[in-house]
Amino acid sequence: MTQETRQIVQYLADYRPYPFLLSETRLDFTLIPDATRVKAVLSLAPRDPDTPEDLVLDGGAGLKLIALTVNGQKPDPAHVSREEERLVIAAAALPRSAFTLETEVQIDPAANTTFEGLYMSGGMFCTQCEAEGFRHITFYPDRPDVMATFRVTIRSDRKVLLSNGNPVGQAQGMAEWHDPWPKPSYLFALVAGDLVSISDSFTTMSGRKVDLNIWVRPGDQDRADYAMESLIRSMKWDEEVYGREYDLDVFNIVAVDDFNMGAMENKGLNIFNSKLVLASPETATDTDYERIEGVIAHEYFHNWTGNRITCRDWFQLCLKEGLTVFRDQQFTSDMRSAPVKRIEDVQALRARQFREDAGPLAHPPRPDHYEEINNFYTATVYEKGAEVIGMLKRLVGDAGYAKALDLYFDRHDGDAATIEDWLQVFEDATGRDLAQFKRWYVDAGTPHLDMVEQWSADDAGGRLTLTFTQETAPTPGQPDKPARVIPIAVGLIGPNGDEVLPTRILEMTQPQQSFDFEGLGARPVVSALRDFSAPVILTRRIDDATRAFLLAHDTDPFARWEAGRELAMTALVSLSQGQPGGDDYVTAIGELIADDSADPAFRALCLNLPGDEEIATRVFSLGLTPDPDAIHAARQDLARRIAQTHQDLLARIYDRMQVTGPYAPDAEGSARRALRIAALGLLNRIDGGQRAQVLFGTAGNMTERMAALACLIRLGLGDDALAILHQEFQDNRLVMDKWFSVQPMAAPPDSAVAIARDLAARPDFEWKNPNRFRALIGGFAANHAAFHAKDGAGYDFVADWIMRMDPVNPQIAARMSSLFETWPRYDAARREKALAALERIAALDGLSRNTREMVSRMIA
Ligand code: PHE
Ligand code: ZN
Repeated sequence: MTQETRQIVQYLADYRPYPFLLSETRLDFTLIPDATRVKAVLSLAPRDPDTPEDLVLDGGAGLKLIALTVNGQKPDPAHVSREEERLVIAAAALPRSAFTLETEVQIDPAANTTFEGLYMSGGMFCTQCEAEGFRHITFYPDRPDVMATFRVTIRSDRKVLLSNGNPVGQAQGMAEWHDPWPKPSYLFALVAGDLVSISDSFTTMSGRKVDLNIWVRPGDQDRADYAMESLIRSMKWDEEVYGREYDLDVFNIVAVDDFNMGAMENKGLNIFNSKLVLASPETATDTDYERIEGVIAHEYFHNWTGNRITCRDWFQLCLKEGLTVFRDQQFTSDMRSAPVKRIEDVQALRARQFREDAGPLAHPPRPDHYEEINNFYTATVYEKGAEVIGMLKRLVGDAGYAKALDLYFDRHDGDAATIEDWLQVFEDATGRDLAQFKRWYVDAGTPHLDMVEQWSADDAGGRLTLTFTQETAPTPGQPDKPARVIPIAVGLIGPNGDEVLPTRILEMTQPQQSFDFEGLGARPVVSALRDFSAPVILTRRIDDATRAFLLAHDTDPFARWEAGRELAMTALVSLSQGQPGGDDYVTAIGELIADDSADPAFRALCLNLPGDEEIATRVFSLGLTPDPDAIHAARQDLARRIAQTHQDLLARIYDRMQVTGPYAPDAEGSARRALRIAALGLLNRIDGGQRAQVLFGTAGNMTERMAALACLIRLGLGDDALAILHQEFQDNRLVMDKWFSVQPMAAPPDSAVAIARDLAARPDFEWKNPNRFRALIGGFAANHAAFHAKDGAGYDFVADWIMRMDPVNPQIAARMSSLFETWPRYDAARREKALAALERIAALDGLSRNTREMVSRMIA
């Protein structure tokens, strides 16, 4: 009998294969809200019959064991032990060859508030098994490298009964499903509810017809069309670009209101947070539509990158997530505007991942230890995981990448693979040594890359030398950071604005390295880190005039945007320190937005100033202490100056960008609205809210209405509009989420805590719903100066709610706690208040493993 108790910290180095092979899993569910029965029949065999091993099955405390047999016989009770989160059957009670293990358990989905395992949402039964939810449904080797085919019987009075794979039997109150593709338990799913569907079909490249269904609650079916169109586009794109075909007769998507994350790629049965499925022009914004398209694609793409090829263990999470994010980013670039998508992705990366990488929660894309895997569904694993693949593609080229991916699908189809397998495929396909490249996967922290230019005129014209120095600060547990290979995309622009050297990739491998460009006529302007070719922080000595020149002339859209961003950022940093700044930016931005030949979406991106949080990050990276109030004031000041200086131009843009005709959530329409809204946000500071007032009352789409509403709230004039919106949409949860989040987010910082507290006291603040909770608490914390209020009221408000949520839904509480990850950068008074809030959380009786791990990493 095993004496081990569950280890608190899990280590990658401890990996060992499961000592049993599992070929088939049969499940039989009888669904009763508070007393569901689950029978499981597992076809097992010892991996090595000569080495007898105990059979250890995962199983949460909520499983009530009703029956257990091995080959139809009850084992001697002395050979069976129930430990904290496992069931152990001693080797002595097991046959030395293939055997059948049968269990029956009873569980209580109605009492499950964690939204992990089998739970209920709005009267429907629903599962969420990634990462370790299946162990709350039945006793099982709940780890991704144990893969089996599944046969599932569902007995229930609900009308629609779904599971993975293909339907094989249907009768009154009963359905049977078979999934022929071996899969790990985390990809299992079951849904039972009185749902309705919108349906379509897709014929794959080899001519097989696949039925497509999106299941929603009655009444929601007219808001699922965009999701269906997105699914069909995704299926087509994956065939065309990656040669990947769908592999079942049916593909089902279900929308649920209570969901911890965005969506889940269960084999053949994706389950989605309803906010990523349901959309109509009256209820969803352009951003919502873009996210729906992107996430539908993401989950669909997982069918190959995640399901057909899965992860050996959870340390390899970025193997499926980084690659699938990379693929969904490529898809969105193809469907919409590639430069706009790239700029949006970089903004998100900097806001979330750079922030994570610079604080106490920093970890590599492939961590080597964790306490609670749910805490590692992070921007680093997802977004940095995708950036690393982007770099790999840059280094091996498009053809090398395509060859490597073909080999990956070929070699590893059906496997539970590792990052080593992934890199090996690239080495074999391209002949490249990726030993140094691997550092990107195993080292945390964002490299700082400094560029120095040296120009020398000679007979052949002139020579430009670029010297780069890379340095990465220590992160928790990783004091030393060896040099990484960094692909630096560079182009040169001549003094007249013409490009004299098109983009070239410089491969930096040393801590410091120089690159020469010879035979240049006159000294060019360097356009560096084009397309954001590596996730690094680039510093260079460059004046405002040169930045303005790049903003006007750079041929690389990302670098062009970046030049404007840097102009704005240096101005904002300077203003926040009580110094002057911003004149050059105000002038340059006027020229840019007046250029009607430029994409409106690009102009909008240039016109939107960096947010307070991003400014604080920059201030801190310069070795200074961010002052949230001063930062807020600086941003207000600069925005007002832009508005005053370009009043007429902005007003013209605002009028001209109006879209007439019916609303369409496409790139063109949303680009015009984005620029219009950017102009509105500035004009709002000088027109007394007059345009916002009119727009809120007349716009036929949620994009413009929400933008107008935020403007009004900013001026303290939002009450009427809020009442109208509430009246109109009180029965629409997704719109009400927006209603809850915009108020504390857009409110003037000194009133935001009071507003958030009032909202939290409302009866319709259904805080156990993750979307509603995130809307209010996350919306509040997005108000930087309010969350970081000097008196600590913002910290206390958020901490109180984390403590309330923790016993109900630890995953959500733990995720929310990362709002505190930036606390070490602020002044002593704020640090003390934030630390006190964290310590209060840490002291909570019965604090979950999830939140405990997060808080202790932040306090350490
Ligand atoms: N695997 C999901 C995705 O990225 C995310 C997820 C993780 C959902 C854990 C639920 C639980 O697509
Ligand atoms: Zn994913």
